[in-house]
Amino acid sequence: MAMIFETHAHYDDEAFDSDREELLASLPAGGVGTVINVGASMATTRNSLALAEKYPFIYAAAGVHPDEVEELTESCMEELRGYCRQGKTVAVGEIGLDYHWHKEEEHRKLQQYWFRRQLALAREEGLPFIIHSREAAADTLTILKEERAGEIGGVMHCYSYSAKQVREYVGMGLYIGVGGVVTFKNARKLKEAVEAVPLENILLETDCPYMAPVPYRGKRNCSLYLPHVATAIAGLKGVSEETVRAATEENAKRLFGKTAGRQKTGGMCNRGGSEFC
Ligand code: NI
Repeated sequence: MAMIFETHAHYDDEAFDSDREELLASLPAGGVGTVINVGASMATTRNSLALAEKYPFIYAAAGVHPDEVEELTESCMEELRGYCRQGKTVAVGEIGLDYHWHKEEEHRKLQQYWFRRQLALAREEGLPFIIHSREAAADTLTILKEERAGEIGGVMHCYSYSAKQVREYVGMGLYIGVGGVVTFKNARKLKEAVEAVPLENILLETDCPYMAPVPYRGKRNCSLYLPHVATAIAGLKGVSEETVRAATEENAKRLFGKTAGRQKTGGMCNRGGSEFC
């Protein structure tokens, strides 16, 4: 069986405070080969880097989520740039737009500004991006096109838009992050989107501690549950679970291994035995 590549986790979340070390130590034996722990604020970016420092199979993404952009300043951006240059940082994220909780035009403008700035950071630092986009489909697509995001490369995390729009993202060469929702009975829209995406553009992700797949729906999620997601994707694609595991691992390495050519010290590609690149 191919090892699972988990592209979106938040193991620094307090939901894991009681058993974090034990759980993380159990992942390799549970078939999880690589984890990207994703920052959503300055603090959780630092937490992600600390986890990556501690565990050989964990990598970090550095970025500030649209809900948290009020904390951003020019000096934060310089700090993020420094984090991007650390050896185990493989992406800028999660960044994007979230209009669900923010109806005010002023906040939305602020989100758009920092989304563009962090996309520019990804471009400048030669890293792919991880996008969070909720109830902001049109503006997300507009910004990604205007910023020529296809040249940078990245993933639409926790994809929640239509099958029609998914073709636009795939057309730009972007990847689609699929998690526990695909196992839900009522997730017709996501299932249609997954059917429309070539397997070569799909990544496995949990967004843990959130979004646990059936039969753990509503409980704390973790990367050990990803085989349920792989099985659901396999059913929609008419291929085996093993095919999905192997393809999504390859896809993740192709996207996040782009950093391979960069001059970094202590990076994943300089470490002997890394499966990543
Ligand atoms: Ni997330």
